[in-house]
Amino acid sequence: MSTHEIDDLTGTQTTGHEWDGIKELNTPLPRWWLWTFYGCILFSIGYTIAYPAWPLISSATTGVLGFSTRANLDADLAAAKAAQGGLLEQVAATPIEEIPANADLARFATAGGKSLFKVYCSQCHGTGAAGSVGYPNLNDDEWIWGGSIDQIHTTITHGARSDADPDTRYNIMPNFGADQVLDSAQIDTVAKQVASLSGIEGGAASDEGATIFAENCAACHGEAGEGMADLGGPSLTDQVWLYQGSLEAIKAQINQARHGVMPAWGARLGDTAVKQLAVYVHSLGGGQ
Ligand code: HEC
Ligand code: HEC
Repeated sequence: MSTHEIDDLTGTQTTGHEWDGIKELNTPLPRWWLWTFYGCILFSIGYTIAYPAWPLISSATTGVLGFSTRANLDADLAAAKAAQGGLLEQVAATPIEEIPANADLARFATAGGKSLFKVYCSQCHGTGAAGSVGYPNLNDDEWIWGGSIDQIHTTITHGARSDADPDTRYNIMPNFGADQVLDSAQIDTVAKQVASLSGIEGGAASDEGATIFAENCAACHGEAGEGMADLGGPSLTDQVWLYQGSLEAIKAQINQARHGVMPAWGARLGDTAVKQLAVYVHSLGGGQ
């Protein structure tokens, strides 16, 4: 092996390996390649000393430069907080009714409310706040509990029929059928009366229906069924329905009422967040 011969044709040394008369040439790696390779090794040793690198049992070497992505993130967050800090404090200090009048503050609160809404409210009210059966649409002009920014703020703070909040908005429609307050003929009559208020198919107004309504329903839904925001009795005259607008659905509600629950958010999210949500919901259109 020590006496490597020189290949006649190329003038290159052979490795001494030979297969059936074919000899392997010993072509060295190019210099530039080798030096780059050594350079890379040196660089990586330096890098693992300077930066966090080697895993230990419960952490890793921290590196002499003290670099940390977590610290960078904390710094970025602190900077972002500082940038909006003034506005958040302003939202906290401004009474809710006055926020819409301050264009900058309203814009800031609406943007914050919009992202909070996606996280906490869209599961029930939909991403665009359009609602679904049992969960009210927040884009329209119809408000069960009132559409002024103040009323919206109260609804979000305390919820509706929320066990968690003693100040929650509360009103329970009786089960007129299930608890035998009205018999099935009376339910049929008053359901047709209600259906006639908004022109639903099968609806029919009658003197008897009007009397049953006045005696049993007007206290919460208003004398003409126009709704009572203070009590949370929805309007029965509009085309907007919480539980679908059909004669069947109306009968079902009179027979066995459903009691939608809206969670209370004041204690959970804090008043500044709730204010931002109220400004956003109020801005969706239909806010009074
Ligand atoms: C678990 C489902 C649920 C979640 C989550 C929820 N809501 Fe509601 N929300 C309801 C229900 C149900 C009602 C209707 C209450 C009723 O029938 O009186 C309602 C009613 C409302 C109303 C009153 C609508 C009106 O017509 O008066 C507002 C405003 C509102 N929600 C805002 C929000 C906001 C803002 C959030 C997020 C912080 C939120 N909701 C999260 C279920 C929910
Ligand atoms: C004590 C108050 C109260 C009385 C009395 C009452 N309701 Fe209601 N009603 C409510 C409340 C509150 C709701 C909303 C339920 C919810 O949000 O889940 C409601 C909902 C309804 C709905 C569904 C509305 C929708 O948008 O889907 C209909 C229909 C209805 N009531 C009809 C009647 C009729 C008819 C009577 C009389 C026979 C009556 N109610 C008596 C409080 C009352």
